[in-house]
Amino acid sequence: MFHTLRFETIPNEPRLTHVTMEAIAQAQPNIALVKYWGKREVDRNIPAVPSLSITLDSLWTRTKVAFDPKLRADDVSVNGRRDASQSSRVTALLDTCRRRAGVGLHAHVDSKTNFPIGAGLASSASGFAALAAATVGALAIEIDAVELSALARRASGSAARSVFGGFVEMPDALNGNVTAQPLLSATDWPLRVIIALTSEQPKPTGSSDGMRHSAETSDYYAAWVDSAGRDFMTARDAIMERNFATLAEVSEHSCLKMHAVMMSSNPPLVYWNGATIDCIHTIRRLRNDGIPAFFTVDAGPQVKAVCLPECADMVHAALQKVNGVRQLYTSNLGPGVRIMESMQ
Ligand code: PMV
Repeated sequence: MFHTLRFETIPNEPRLTHVTMEAIAQAQPNIALVKYWGKREVDRNIPAVPSLSITLDSLWTRTKVAFDPKLRADDVSVNGRRDASQSSRVTALLDTCRRRAGVGLHAHVDSKTNFPIGAGLASSASGFAALAAATVGALAIEIDAVELSALARRASGSAARSVFGGFVEMPDALNGNVTAQPLLSATDWPLRVIIALTSEQPKPTGSSDGMRHSAETSDYYAAWVDSAGRDFMTARDAIMERNFATLAEVSEHSCLKMHAVMMSSNPPLVYWNGATIDCIHTIRRLRNDGIPAFFTVDAGPQVKAVCLPECADMVHAALQKVNGVRQLYTSNLGPGVRIMESMQ
């Protein structure tokens, strides 16, 4: 749980300017095995489907939030560059926290990642989970992990899941207060993830725009929403039973159904390139040959292979041979978001 963020609430703003109102948090991206695509409520960012993910270990986002009485507006930079593209979502999250803490100051938000952002490697998941944790840390807001997950969800649905480590579920909650929760720890079933980077270009259509477009134009959207609960339960049971074969089948099925919805949107959303398809075939061939590995692909062209640790070298070697694979990242499953001492 998120005990590190239990500080005393500081009563009024003049005093706050004399204390250091800053905090640094680190979060890792998560990879959905049962995918989230579509919103039931756009305003409150409520997903239309339940989802289930694994949090990574070796890729990370570190974010420092520092409130500063001298600032006239929030000042957001990502990997050393001023970033206007995300600033409305960043400011919306900061506003929620400012209101709660009764603070009117603006903040410097300085974020860095050790992987390319906006390219389908779940940088918004780690980014907004780290931002939420650093902001509540800087403002000394008392919050538990479930509430932190709901706060992160308002900015990015998948960020709600990066608050937790290991296997994480985000069930559909009819009361509308959707939050993620831990299902199984990273060490309870230590899977390995190998990510094949096939392009470093930012994705042409962001997730929120893509989801709206699919909901409005894909004939398959209703069927996707209808069948998601079944996939979620199948994957959940497979994880609890450590049944790799069933998890492989249902994860690939959920991924391909999501891409079928994307591709059947009008005009279509095609996030894949040639190397994406070659990686998918390579991983399917490995599994047909008895290697426990499966693929998943998000809103981008990168392919994530999930496998048992003893097969990781074989999966890595096979993906390395695929034309168009520019880089491979290997990761264990990792912990959830946490407060850090420094950005280093
Ligand atoms: O959290 P968002 O708004 O970036 O949407 C994430 C959507 C997918 O990555 C494609 C699927 C998922 O469940 O993570």
